[in-house]
Amino acid sequence: MHVIVAAMKQSKILYGGLRSLARLLQRPEWAGTRYTILLDENTFQLCLPQLISSVEPLQEAEFIEVPVGEECKSLEVAAQVWQTLLEGGADRSHVLVCLGGGSVCDLGGFVAAGYKRGIRHINVPTTLLAMVDAAIGGKTAVDFSGVKNSIGFFYPAALTVIDHVFCDTLEAEQALCGKMEMVKTAAVCDPALYRFLISSNSESRIQNSELAQVARLKARVVKSDPYDHSIRKILNFGHTFGHAIELYCSLPHGLAVGIGMKAALYLSAKKTGLPEGVYHEYSQWLKKELVNLTSNLSSFTLKDIERMLPLMRQDKKSADGELRCVLLQDLGAAMIDVPVSDHEVRDAFLHL
Ligand SMILES: NC(=O)c1ccc[n+]([C@@H]2O[C@H](COP(=O)([O-])OP(=O)(O)OC[C@H]3O[C@@H](n4cnc5c(N)ncnc54)[C@H](O)[C@@H]3O)[C@@H](O)[C@H]2O)c1
Ligand SMILES: [Zn+2]
Repeated sequence: MHVIVAAMKQSKILYGGLRSLARLLQRPEWAGTRYTILLDENTFQLCLPQLISSVEPLQEAEFIEVPVGEECKSLEVAAQVWQTLLEGGADRSHVLVCLGGGSVCDLGGFVAAGYKRGIRHINVPTTLLAMVDAAIGGKTAVDFSGVKNSIGFFYPAALTVIDHVFCDTLEAEQALCGKMEMVKTAAVCDPALYRFLISSNSESRIQNSELAQVARLKARVVKSDPYDHSIRKILNFGHTFGHAIELYCSLPHGLAVGIGMKAALYLSAKKTGLPEGVYHEYSQWLKKELVNLTSNLSSFTLKDIERMLPLMRQDKKSADGELRCVLLQDLGAAMIDVPVSDHEVRDAFLHL
């Protein structure tokens, strides 16, 4: 029992992929554990065979399939999963394995946190975005009453397993979304890695070592501020603009953040002393990365900007309706809660 409690409190990241998960689950403390794998239609087809052929203790697991993408993040779906677990007799020693992108991991963590006051869950992220971001850091949530991530808990996974193998089946746009979040984390934490990422060929495959580097950076930031009161906010770089662009343009989150980062870098050069060259270099890189996208991107008109301003004010980082952003003094030197005027926001949008 003591071991179970310890595992709940520490979120361990396995950088050695499915092989290291297989080894770990063979240990005596996991003997006799029953597992349920939470997945969606795509990860059932594309990722499950790899998981169960590599991790023998999961071969006897049950599966629960949930709707694909954001649609699974609802109280209704969570209730259906709880119902299935109850009917299957899952007790407090049961382990939920979340095999999917950020949506499945967010839902799975939420379900695990609530079931019988908390059971262990293992995140096996299958999108790049989930490997470097969503599956690390203990934030779980469902969408409620039309508001994204409005109900949730901080509930770290017992284990998160990073395995590059799942990236092989990602569509180019999904992979780019993950890369944008990698660039974001590197921009606020590790200038050398940032330079490496934005100088690599857009066609080149992300390597396991780069994934692990970014995952470690995120884990380090989360460890120093698990509840998102201070330093963890640096990971929201590009997100105040990004969330408004995501909503207004119906763009995938990662792409919107990539564009939002350009606006934040522009304002950083204007307000917080970021060398202008960093902004120009990023703009060039972003243009090259976005050139082959199917999503329809065009410049913003003044009318668009007036409609996006209220969306930005709703952002959780704005205080009393005053906009606050994460800006950079330099790469690796982020400032949180920097007040930004409507005039500055308009100016930044016009430069996108
Ligand atoms: N908890 C956090 O800290 C955190 C951080 C960032 C994002 N998120 C959440 O993550 C979600 C977005 O996650 P996402 O971008 O991973 O998208 P997603 O989980 O919605 O998955 C996108 C699509 O990719 C498919 N897919 C998954 N793995 C695949 C694979 N290996 N090959 C082919 N297709 C695959 C899925 O079935 C789905 O159709 C959002 O709900 C967001 O709020 C959470
Ligand atoms: Zn993000």
